[in-house]
Amino acid sequence: QVMKELFGINELEKELSQLLGIKEVIVVPGDTDQSNWVKKEIGRAGARVLQQLSIENQIVAVTGGSSVLAVAEMLTPSTVLKSTTFVPTRGGLDEAVELGANYIASMMAKKTGGRYRLLHVPDQLSPEAYEMLMKEQHIEKTLAYLKKSRIVLHGIGDAKKMALRRKSSPEVIKKLEQGEAVGEFFGYYINSKGQIIHRIPMVGLQLENLDQVELSIAVAGGTSKAEAIKAICSLSSVHVLITDEGAAEAILKKS
Ligand code: G3H
Repeated sequence: QVMKELFGINELEKELSQLLGIKEVIVVPGDTDQSNWVKKEIGRAGARVLQQLSIENQIVAVTGGSSVLAVAEMLTPSTVLKSTTFVPTRGGLDEAVELGANYIASMMAKKTGGRYRLLHVPDQLSPEAYEMLMKEQHIEKTLAYLKKSRIVLHGIGDAKKMALRRKSSPEVIKKLEQGEAVGEFFGYYINSKGQIIHRIPMVGLQLENLDQVELSIAVAGGTSKAEAIKAICSLSSVHVLITDEGAAEAILKKS
């Protein structure tokens, strides 16, 4: 029975990897939408992959979100990760502190014995405040670290859920609905064709910086995220996708 189950999952991984053009896809059993335990398994797989792909003295950029948080929770000390610096891809969002990139970067450092930097910049700044903050040495230095990231670990959000979580204005929600946004990552809202519908202005890692990053690891599961995962993988080059059976089956069914 176990072998059969394993075989089924291996098939899913292979099919998904071909469909999305992603070199490595890891599918964990279950559906995050049904049980929070599955998110923990995504976290466990994410922590394993990060550990395996890491080299000494690297910089790892991390986004916010509950899936990346699940990875942080599963990390353990190791020689390579001890010399790693974890950097948040952005400053604050209007959401719970525990879901923010700053908190997660610091937690990763704590769990692994590594280092971290913080980015104390709120999103959606006025142009004047932006100018001023950019001159801050501490912020400049963190941004320089971000640009040198070897690995980026990010979540993929469902567009509507993310807009609500961030308490976006009715105008933004309307824009997302009209543009049929399905997914969100790095503050960019994307439709199913991979087109950008809306973007939250922010200081931090931008979409164009992603090309310079050697490895990108995405963690996202749940049937409800199928559209989002597909859209974002068509726009950005993801090297490793860690997802669950629920999302994997839904993506393959709709294609
Ligand atoms: O940018 C995407 C979101 O961070 C995803 O958040 O993992 O809690 O769904 P989540």
